Order: sequence, then structure tokens, then C-alpha cells
Amino acid sequence: MNKFLKWAGIIVGGLVGLLLVSLLILYGMGQARLNKTYDVPVTMVEISNDEESLAEGKRIFQYRGCEACHGEDLQGLVYLDNPAIGQVITPNLTTGKGGIGSQRTDEDLIRAIKHGIRYDGTPLLFMPSTEFYYLSDADLGKVLAYIRSKPPVDNEVQSSKLSTTGFIVMNIAKTITFLPAELIPHDQTPPPAPEPGVTAEYGGYLSLSCRVCHGQTYSGGAIPGFPAEWPAAPNLTSGAGSRLPGWGEGGFIEIMRTGEHHGRKINPSYMPWKSYRHMNDDELKAVYTYLMSLPPKDFGNR
Ligand code: HEC
Ligand code: HEC
Repeated sequence: MNKFLKWAGIIVGGLVGLLLVSLLILYGMGQARLNKTYDVPVTMVEISNDEESLAEGKRIFQYRGCEACHGEDLQGLVYLDNPAIGQVITPNLTTGKGGIGSQRTDEDLIRAIKHGIRYDGTPLLFMPSTEFYYLSDADLGKVLAYIRSKPPVDNEVQSSKLSTTGFIVMNIAKTITFLPAELIPHDQTPPPAPEPGVTAEYGGYLSLSCRVCHGQTYSGGAIPGFPAEWPAAPNLTSGAGSRLPGWGEGGFIEIMRTGEHHGRKINPSYMPWKSYRHMNDDELKAVYTYLMSLPPKDFGNR
């Protein structure tokens, strides 16, 4: 055989081998991250079952986005179905057939919500506990009461399952948070949540989830890790390119409630205003106060 071809064959073979070994290593790393167990003790919170607390619990469940991911009847939904990643399915939280409601203690639920950790100590996929870690005991107590009050729904959902490539992708795509539990300081007590009120502090507490899309500085831009066809997240500070100062508090509340203001329409499949519309006036005012108190940034200065 021609010497050149022989060497080319050895080099290509070597490279393919190297690639396979790297993929195997990445796959193994993904498995290890998913099977790691966390030992996190949790403190119980007071659960009030009075009518007012249940109604508040429902509203928090809605405006914090739980309902959008877990379903109106808490029956569980397919959250993500992408062959490159796998199937991520939210569990049925009720006590019906296929539900986890009667198998989990209140502590298990708190560990899942605040720490992103399953009852068996392994990390939950895509459950955004990096935000819920900061939930006040009062809010958490109401959410738990609401979950426990829901009637049973029979819905046998599959468990979440990453595909073979999913275990690899989770080690490469650094901008996608597969396992929020990895980012949470489990052994530290979160700072006390601010008192409810029309204050920038309370607005900041209500605006934690906005950062996923509008960026750490709330100045918007293309959303990392999201499909390219998504529109950029607009600037929510008072800096250049922001519509918010012009709209004022009233316009802001209107678009958060209805998805529309002065001819500008925002798409609920990108901007989850159908969850946020459940905030009351004071809460939306607090959010606006917070956003306007932030250092003004130019658009896209995430
Ligand atoms: C972005 C979507 C999303 C949001 C928002 C969300 N969840 Fe989840 N949640 C998930 C997914 C996905 C899982 C399952 C992960 C898995 O299978 O590894 C999950 C799991 C859970 C579990 C664990 C159940 C078990 O197996 O023990 C509980 C409890 C839970 N969520 C409650 C909540 C509550 C309460 C909120 C709001 C405060 C909330 N979730 C908001 C996606 C979400
Ligand atoms: C899942 C991503 C996502 C989250 C979370 C999110 N947004 Fe958005 N938001 C967007 C996108 C994308 C747009 C642009 C939508 C469009 O053009 O249809 C948008 C638009 C807006 C607008 C309209 C602004 C303008 O200039 O048109 C406001 C106001 C807004 N978001 C506020 C918020 C607030 C406040 C939060 C948190 C409480 C939040 N968003 C959370 C993605 C998000």
C-alpha cells in the first residue's frame, strides 16, 4: 500500500479513536453528575390551610411559573422533548394514579423546591430552584398548602430521561443549566426575604426569574442557550433602548397583564406574561420600582 495512504489511515483512525474516547468520558461525566447524591437537611415551614393562604398559594404557584411547567391541575407535562437532550417531564404532583403526592413528605417537597433535589438525593433536571432557594418561608408554606389541597388527578407520566447525546451535551453546553442543584449553596441559609410592599427590595425578590432571559443586569439581548429564532429579550433597565421609562408604571402593568401596550405585542411562548399576570398591582409596582432603581444599562449589556 502507498505509504502516504497508510499514514493517513493511521492518523484518521487515531483521531476517530480519540474522539470516541472523549465522548465516552463526557458521557461518563454526565452520568456521574446525574447520579451524584446530595445530603441536604431541610427545615420545615409552617403550612396554613386557611382559605386565604390557599388562594395566595395558588397565585404564587402561578406567578412563579410553577403552573406553566407543572400544569394547571398539577398533573405533570412534557417540559422538553428534544432527541439531542432527551425527555424532561414534570411529575404529577397530586395524589392520583401516577402522582407523587402521597409518596413524598413535606420535607421532600421543600428539598425539591428550594434545592432542586429529588427525595433520593439526586439532582432534578431543569427545575429552577436557583430562584426558589430564595423563597420566603411564608410563600413556601402557602405553595405547599396549595399543592396538598389539589384534588387527585390520574396521570401516569414517564420519568425524565436524558438521551445518550444528552449526557454529552450537558457537559458541553455551559449556558444551559441542566442541574440547578449544582449552582445552589446548599449549606448556607439564604438571606431573609424582604417584607412584601411596594419597594425595590421586594420587587427584586419577585424579579429573580426575569434574569434567565433578560440577563443578570436586566438589560436584555440574545438569550444564551435558547433557539436562534427566539426574539432578543428587551432592555428592562432605564438605559438606552428601553421602552419602560416611556411606558411608565401603568404601561408596564398593562403589558405584564395583557401582553400588549400601545401597539406593542409580546408573544407568550417567549415572554411568560401569562404567569406574571397573576401578580397583583402592588407586586407589579414593586417590580417596576426595582427595575427603575437598577443602574441604567445599554441594551444587551447582559
Ligand atoms: C421551568 C419549569 C419548571 C418550573 C418553573 C417549576 N418546575 Fe418543578 N420541576 C420541573 C421539572 C422538569 C421537574 C422534574 C425534573 C426531573 O424529572 O428530574 C420538576 C420537579 C419538581 C418537584 C419534584 C417532585 C418529586 O419528584 O419529588 C417538585 C415538588 C416541584 N417540581 C415543584 C415545583 C414548584 C412548587 C414550583 C414553583 C415554585 C416549580 N416546581 C416550578 C420543572 C419546573
Ligand atoms: C423565558 C424568558 C423570559 C423570562 C423568564 C422573562 N422574559 Fe420578559 N421577555 C422575554 C422576551 C423574549 C421578550 C420579547 C418578546 C417578544 O418580542 O415577543 C420579553 C419582553 C418583555 C417585556 C416587554 C418589553 C419591551 O420593550 O417590549 C417586558 C416588560 C418584560 N419582558 C418583563 C419581564 C419581567 C418583569 C420578567 C420577570 C418577572 C420577565 N420579563 C421574564 C423573555 C422573558
